[in-house]
Amino acid sequence: MAKVLSEKFYAEMKKLEPRYPTKVALLLPALHAAQDELGWLSSETMEEIGSYIGIHPAQVKEVASFYTMYNLKPVGKYHLKICTNVACCLRGAYDVVEHTEKKLGIKVGQTTPDKQFTLHEEECLGACGTAPAMMLNNDYVENLDIRKMDEVLAKLGVKG
Ligand code: FES
Repeated sequence: MAKVLSEKFYAEMKKLEPRYPTKVALLLPALHAAQDELGWLSSETMEEIGSYIGIHPAQVKEVASFYTMYNLKPVGKYHLKICTNVACCLRGAYDVVEHTEKKLGIKVGQTTPDKQFTLHEEECLGACGTAPAMMLNNDYVENLDIRKMDEVLAKLGVKG
């Protein structure tokens, strides 16, 4: 099987290895690093991680599918994950979701045809004090409202 992960990925893992009691404990950082590198976690990627760590690919998939932060399908260049848990919901997260769907012309769970944007609802992001919150790739956007979402999208090249 051809390798999908880069030398940079393996160098990063080698650097992290001494910090973890076992190689299996490297699984979450390995999934993060692979996702940062490739944007999502394909079966091939999870197989390669399993073989590096020494566990069955099914175990890798079991862990990756437990956490919503891992993408098991390809996502757009900009991945918007709007929290719709209680605090964010009470402060208007669904208005922002609806507005974003209209603006991007997609529904939650979809990617724009040009592969630029993917929109998801997310569980609590741990930013309830500044709700509604969203992750834009790995960055937080807090105190979100329609106006702020328009600003974010405008910076990413969405007009209108
Ligand atoms: S409920 Fe949205 S960040 Fe906690």
